[in-house]
This record gives sequence, C-alpha cells and structure tokens, in this order.
Amino acid sequence: MSKQAVLKLDNTDLTLPVIVGSEGENAVDMRNLRAKSGIITYDEGYGNTGSCLSKITFIDGEKGILRYRGYPIEQLAEKSTFVETTYLIIYGELPTAAQRKRFSALLSEHASIHERMVYLFEHYPRDAHPMAILGAMCNALGCYYPHLATNDQVSDLENFDEAAATAVSKVRTIAAMSYRMTKGYPIIYPKRTLPYCENFLHMMFSDPYDFYECPPVVARALNLILLLHADHEQNCSTSTVRMVASSGANLIASTAAGICALWGPLHGGANMAVIKMLEAIHAEGDDGSRFIDNAKAGKSRLMGFGHRVYKNYDPRAKIIGRACEELLASLGSKDPLLDIARRLEQAVLQDPYFLERKLYPNVDFYSGIMMRAIGIPLSMFTVMFAIGRMPGWVANWHEVASDSKGRIYRPRQIYMGATVRDYVPMDQRG
Ligand code: ACO
Repeated sequence: MSKQAVLKLDNTDLTLPVIVGSEGENAVDMRNLRAKSGIITYDEGYGNTGSCLSKITFIDGEKGILRYRGYPIEQLAEKSTFVETTYLIIYGELPTAAQRKRFSALLSEHASIHERMVYLFEHYPRDAHPMAILGAMCNALGCYYPHLATNDQVSDLENFDEAAATAVSKVRTIAAMSYRMTKGYPIIYPKRTLPYCENFLHMMFSDPYDFYECPPVVARALNLILLLHADHEQNCSTSTVRMVASSGANLIASTAAGICALWGPLHGGANMAVIKMLEAIHAEGDDGSRFIDNAKAGKSRLMGFGHRVYKNYDPRAKIIGRACEELLASLGSKDPLLDIARRLEQAVLQDPYFLERKLYPNVDFYSGIMMRAIGIPLSMFTVMFAIGRMPGWVANWHEVASDSKGRIYRPRQIYMGATVRDYVPMDQRG
C-alpha cells in the first residue's frame, strides 16, 4: 500500500497521500488540502515546499550530493564539457557523437544576434551594470525572434530546439558585447569555428587587430565554472523561470526573468560580494575576523557561506576550490585572495557559530578567484553565473511547458492587513 500521512485538525483526521521520489524522498501531497479542509499551509521562503516534480537535478543537501540527470557532479566536472552537460541537462541523456556534433553546430548557428540588436548597446549608459543589460537584452530577443516567443505553447514547443540554442548561445554573445560596450571597446562578433568557451573569451578579449589566443587550461577552467553552475534544482532564479513559464510565457521571457532573479546578492550576486569582501580583508591587512564578527553579530552575512539546501560542504565548492589552485599553478600566477579565502574558510570551519548553523563555503566562495585568474572583470561575475545557469533554466522551462496537466503557479497568502473599513473622504482624513 502506498504511504499516507494523517493530519489532525480539531476533531477530524485528514488522510493525505505521500509521494515518494526516485531517490526515496517523501512529500505529503497537499494539493487537495484546502478543498478538503479550508486551510492552507504556511511556509515562508518555501523551505519545506516541493513546488514541482522534476527529473532534472537531484541534491541531497545533508550528504553534499549533486547530480544532473543522475550523473554525479564530480564525474561531469572531471570528464565532461559545458556544452555536453548542457545537452544532458536539456535533453536528459548524454549525447552520442552525432548528437553532440549537431548540437554544437546549432549553438554556432545561433551565436550571433540580430544586427539591429547590436545598436541597442549604444543606448545604455556606459556605467550600466552588465546584469541590467543582460536581462534587458535577453528579453529583447523576443522582439527580434518573435517566432520563438509566441506564447502559444504548441508553437513554442515546436521551436524548442532553436529557442534553447538561441538562449544558451546568445546569452554568451550578449554578455561579451555588454562588457565591450561598457568599456568603450569595439564589439567582437562570434567566430563560427571556435568552441563555446573559447568563443566567449574571443568576444571578450580579442580586438579587431589582435586575436585572443585562449590557453587550453583557461578554456578548461571556464568550462568547469559554467558546468558547475548549469543547474541547481529549485533555486530562486529557476523557480522564477518556472513561475513565469507556468503562465504560458515563452522560453525567452521566462529565462530573462531568471536573469533578474539571479542578480540579487543572496543568489548569483554573491560571487561579486565575496571578492569585494576578500579585497577589503586584503586592503585592511587583517585576518577576516571583522567580517566573521559582524556576521556572528547579525550585522552582515559572510558572503560565500551557507546554503538553503546544503547543510554540508557544497560539492561544487570543493571542486572549484581545488581547480582554482590548479589553474593558478598552471598559469604560474598567484592571487593573495586565494590565501585569504583558505584562511577564512579554516577559521569558519572551526567556529561554533558556523558549525551549529551548518554554514559551509558555497560555490560562490571560490568561483570569483577562478574568474579573476581567467581575466573576467568583477562586474561580469554574476553575468558568468547567468551564462552557466541558462541550460538549467531552459530545461526547467521545458518541463513546465510540456506538462499538459500543469497549472499556473499561484501560491496563497495569510492576509495580515486591516479588516474591512469604509472609505474616508479626503477632508475627513487625519
Ligand atoms: N553568514 C552568517 N550567518 C549566516 C549566513 C552567512 N553567510 N547564512 C546564514 N546565516 C545564519 C542566519 O543568520 C541564521 O542564523 P539564526 O538561526 O541565528 O537566525 C541561520 O544561519 C540560518 O540562515 P537562513 O537565513 O535561515 O538561511 P537561508 O537558507 O534562508 O539562506 C543563504 C541561505 C541566502 C544562502 C544564506 O546562507 C546567505 O545569505 N549566504 C550568504 C550569501 C551567499 O553566499 N549566497 C549564495 C548562495 S549559493 C547560490 O546562490 C549559488
């Protein structure tokens, strides 16, 4: 017999089915709760709420496990590339050689943006934040490729392969162009023959008269950074994408909403905040205790630590921390921020405040140091996260859009405001 849960409400016993996931996770099915009892659940921040059934990514936060489509992140990090992992996340299986070739060709075909979009860059202020430009420009793709943004689910799903390739490939082009625009550098167009990561670095760092030669270790490092960010189940930005998608909105609009949600410092913006914190520690020449003390006193958060789901080491942080050292060693460069980060991590891992709350380094703690080594400027860090996360957003959009029984996402609330009262004319208001 399938599992059931019983909820005691006053004198009534309410029997609720329990859904068991493929990894043995249990969830009480609340879908009929209000219809049966008139009450709703309250779960601010959704820490106990499963918002969907998904087949994309599995996380066990207590054990520090992350798998994309069943494959452990450690194996993908060691053996795969960002493009192959993108295919896996979007289509559910590792590609055959022929599928991989076709997918790469599709990404190359959709790398450039409509020429009239290039002119749009001219009109942003020079000091605009690249995330603001990225969100606006990715949403604007719907204007230039309207056949991918019809909001007719049948048609949007028919064009899914093209829309997915457009989102994954063009986000990288727009990102690089936004950087060049803010610097006042000439825009560099994508090069068809270059692989995904090398092409991005070419658009960032080549000049019309000087081609950027990408060292293989740098391409590998960028592949790793993007791959580690490629999906992370129902985080804030992915939930946003699903929320928007549930209204029937197209893939372009839904993923652009994800970019906006990612921007905040508690989510994708944390990678910038970590570097600013490490730079401040470096400039002050102290050991980071000011930041630790402030965090413990509740005055600020120690950026790059803690996670809603991981109550153990974030497996991505482990991989990226090691890779950071390897990259710096291969490039023969040193970064004082890495030493500071290592010392800060050691201090935190011995501090009862952080131990009691199970606050470990998350992916953002080391990703910034690695991006610095590649030459990515600080203002672009969250943009890099957005490029990496695009496959996860696309796959989640597809899961929502292709669920014919899916309902619009529409949580309820507990109203705590004024009770009914009569309108007061202006001359009688105190
Ligand atoms: N520094 C200091 N204290 C912290 C931190 C932190 N980084 N994170 C959580 N805490 C404390 C809280 O103050 C709280 O303490 P209390 O029980 O005494 O009130 C306790 O730990 C639980 O914190 P919550 O806010 O309930 O944790 P939540 O799951 O809501 O937040 C989050 C998760 C947002 C990631 C949080 O840990 C944080 O702000 N971290 C810093 C920002 C960051 O690195 N974000 C990147 C997240 S990973 C990503 O998006 C890729």
